[in-house]
Amino acid sequence: IVLMKVLGLETSCDETGIAIYDTDNGLLAHKIYSQIAQHAEYGGVVPELASRDHVRKTLPLIDEVLKEAGMKKTELDAVAYTSGPGLVGALMAGATIGRSLAYALGIPALGVHHMEGHLLAPMLEESQPAMPFIALLVSGGHTQLVRVDGIGEYRLLGQSLDDAAGEAFDKAAKMIGLPYPGGPQIAALAKQGNPKSGLKFPRPMTDRPGLDFSFSGLKTAFLTAVHLALDEDRCDEQFKADAALAFETAVVDTLVIKCRRALEAEGLKQLIIAGGVSANQRLRDQLETQLKKIKANVFYARPEFCTDNGAMIAYAGAQRLVNGQSSELGLSIRARWPL
Ligand code: KG4
Ligand code: ZN
Repeated sequence: IVLMKVLGLETSCDETGIAIYDTDNGLLAHKIYSQIAQHAEYGGVVPELASRDHVRKTLPLIDEVLKEAGMKKTELDAVAYTSGPGLVGALMAGATIGRSLAYALGIPALGVHHMEGHLLAPMLEESQPAMPFIALLVSGGHTQLVRVDGIGEYRLLGQSLDDAAGEAFDKAAKMIGLPYPGGPQIAALAKQGNPKSGLKFPRPMTDRPGLDFSFSGLKTAFLTAVHLALDEDRCDEQFKADAALAFETAVVDTLVIKCRRALEAEGLKQLIIAGGVSANQRLRDQLETQLKKIKANVFYARPEFCTDNGAMIAYAGAQRLVNGQSSELGLSIRARWPL
């Protein structure tokens, strides 16, 4: 059995996440620096600003996690960094620092798939499923249902044909003047919403067989409702809260229906949810309730490991490294990369 202390670097978007995972003792330390405030005034992530910030923050954060773990650099056994998918400049920052550090220390470096990191994040928690299981990956860029039979053994069962679930949350939030990222904002506002407001949005593609998703029609339905309310001069705070609730419920219901369908189609009883949207409390609650009916269980990571973080990259990298995988020094990053 191979024991390894792996440094994980996540820099694919607007979070610099650094962590150290020890295959013997688990997670030793982790830090996240979020750039959200800097991008907020632009209503989304500005790639050039993101790259610069990763360059500025990565090395100081590595020093901080080493200190937290009570380790010296020279005690690291490998470096894992996110090599895609994501923003090219942002990925380059992490890949370059990660590989240079590994080179200087004479240890292996490994590029990790960002979505594999998300997918495995629930395995950092105490309560974990045994493989095989179904994974619902719901982030700002992806909505996918995957069958997982082992590390690296992933079969895509269905995915969004247009917008990702997180993207739909972000766009809907923008339409009612909420800042980026919109998911947590919509969720918070929905708490003020009245379930009997009469507003109801479609559950796209649930009335036909299959495991694909589509969220762009739902987004349009939301926009239409907002325009109508504006025209009729009733787009007040209560309307926005009602719309947020109706929207969140529609997205959650749609995801829950497809998760249940995937479990039944594959004859499995365990579901992992991962990615930013898996932090959504309504999604977690609804899955708990609905999956109980088919005697299935849902697993997820603590909220800070649902969104982008270094721990998931350190963990995913460690799983692959103990099986003898590492990257060629020539391997480049990939902005687009199917799981
Ligand atoms: O995984 P992630 O941090 O970054 C990507 O890889 O995309 O996911 C970010 C996405 C954003 O779209 C954000 O609005 C959404 O996850 N999100 C949420 C919640 N927290 C984050 N969506 C709904 N409810 C939440 N509580
Ligand atoms: Zn992500």
